Amino acid sequence: MIINKENGINILLVVGSARKGSFNQIIADYLADKYGESCNFREADLKSLPVYSEDIENDEIASVTKLREDVRWADGVVILTPEHNFTMSVLVKNFIDWCSRIELVLANKPVMITGATMGYFGTVMAQSHVRQAMLSPGLKAIVVPGTEVYITTIQNRVVDGKLIDENAESLNKAFNNFVDYIASDNRYCFKC
Ligand SMILES: Cc1cc2nc3c(=O)[nH]c(=O)nc-3n(C[C@H](O)[C@H](O)[C@H](O)COP(=O)(O)O)c2cc1C
Repeated sequence: MIINKENGINILLVVGSARKGSFNQIIADYLADKYGESCNFREADLKSLPVYSEDIENDEIASVTKLREDVRWADGVVILTPEHNFTMSVLVKNFIDWCSRIELVLANKPVMITGATMGYFGTVMAQSHVRQAMLSPGLKAIVVPGTEVYITTIQNRVVDGKLIDENAESLNKAFNNFVDYIASDNRYCFKC
């Protein structure tokens, strides 16, 4: 991994599960533990966000202000989505909608999308829907190629509540690609 930036790279983790013992949370914790010396991590507090509505989008809401601040702080955003009924979880959708209005905080932001399921498809449909949303006019995020990883049968990869290195090869490769992209000078930029 090549990191050129002083003081490390700022990574915002967006975990789309409110479940105690969430596997997607375990993956986020693994990244924060493993790369904590080279990257600065924050986790977005999705559970405090109100359900998005145009009626309140101009209101002063502390959790929304904090979310926008966290996204602005980040050099890159890692979205970890569970798959619920063949699509992203409601927490991820709510995050996306808040980021798409008033202040387009995700515009030109490098994004990595991943997610874990207990089944064999590894959130492939949920991730494809998140990827599609990232390209919408309200978001204009940069989903970095070479960073997608579909984490299947997650229950078999976790030991004592933690993801272990031997079972995280694809995740590590994807995250290293992501950080290399952030640290590189050849970044694509939309005209907003
Ligand atoms: C309402 C609901 C719908 C689900 N739909 C899917 C699905 O479409 N595809 C899938 O692979 N798993 C599905 N699952 C299983 C989740 O992927 C599994 O619960 C996973 O552990 C959720 O992530 P988490 O552990 O981070 O909460 C569903 C679970 C729930 C509660």
